[in-house]
Amino acid sequence: MTVTDPLVLLDPEALAGQLAVDVRAGLLARPRTLPPKYFYDAHGSRLFDEITRLPEYYPTRAERAVLEEHADDVAAATGAQSLVELGSGTSEKTRLLLDALDRAGTLRRFVPFDVDPAILREAAAAVSAELPGVDVAPVVGDFEHHLDQLPRDPRRLVAFLGSTIGNLDPDQRAGFLAGVRSTLVDGDAFLLGTDLVKPEARLVAAYDDAQGVTAAFDKNVLTVIDRELDADFDLDDFAHRAVWVPEHERIEMRLESLRDQRVRIGALDLEIDLVAGEQIRTEISSKFRREGVERELAAAGLRLTHWWTDAPGDFALSLSVPV
Ligand SMILES: C[S@@+](CC[C@H](N)C(=O)[O-])C[C@H]1O[C@@H](n2cnc3c(N)ncnc32)[C@H](O)[C@@H]1O
Repeated sequence: MTVTDPLVLLDPEALAGQLAVDVRAGLLARPRTLPPKYFYDAHGSRLFDEITRLPEYYPTRAERAVLEEHADDVAAATGAQSLVELGSGTSEKTRLLLDALDRAGTLRRFVPFDVDPAILREAAAAVSAELPGVDVAPVVGDFEHHLDQLPRDPRRLVAFLGSTIGNLDPDQRAGFLAGVRSTLVDGDAFLLGTDLVKPEARLVAAYDDAQGVTAAFDKNVLTVIDRELDADFDLDDFAHRAVWVPEHERIEMRLESLRDQRVRIGALDLEIDLVAGEQIRTEISSKFRREGVERELAAAGLRLTHWWTDAPGDFALSLSVPV
């Protein structure tokens, strides 16, 4: 079988429209914020892929270890015929899951779903070459808006790996999980990767590596805004910060203005005055505990059936089913 043409639920024009609305709202808010999905143009996706290989960035290795140990358990528990992966990126770890479902003889279709069409194209081609018997049907979309338009195959496993759910705040998570629940029917399941709470020093290092790759990734959102919205952010006028916020048990990535400055965003006819030391929050990365994950799943109508972690207990994969 082949890779079908991507189903485009979010075209570049719609994405640009969303970017304009979100940038205006975020930069005028206090604290100032920018949504993390705009990191991921082709360059940002490549930088994220580099981050996953950094010595400090343990989450990818830890989640891979869980998948190495338990992908066959996931296949046995779900008998999934279709794997839908939200925020799929390179789908590199997902190969372990795809191979397990293929070994179990149930897998018919893989649906990678991402906001970045470039990374989706590469991943879809790579998976199709490795698993020629599987129909690969990529979707370009926003998992906060387009879950109701996912293809409705029988026995679907929806996977959301990489602890990307941690980038959503509690209200957004509730909305997202309710969206996932509403796409699931009896026989379907939801596989969720969550990074677990651990000591601050390891967390901060994971989001502020010595080589500065995460800093470049963080600043890429300014490059995207400069290019797409005719803005004049100068990357050298900002520093990347990673801060642990204990009351929310989350890392916040922020871009700190290094001087008093005025930034113009031409396409929005907007000028922003930033004082030295002022920060723009660009990403939250919440860390989880089992009780919280189980509670949030239950609130969305999902019952946790399995909880697997790596040996040190750094990262968890949970499987849940609709109630
Ligand atoms: C943290 S990376 C994780 C990638 C991969 N799943 C992994 O585990 O390594 C987040 C991925 O989600 C995608 N993404 C971010 N926000 C999104 C959104 N709102 N809708 C769809 N994809 C999104 C990004 O393009 C990126 O590929």
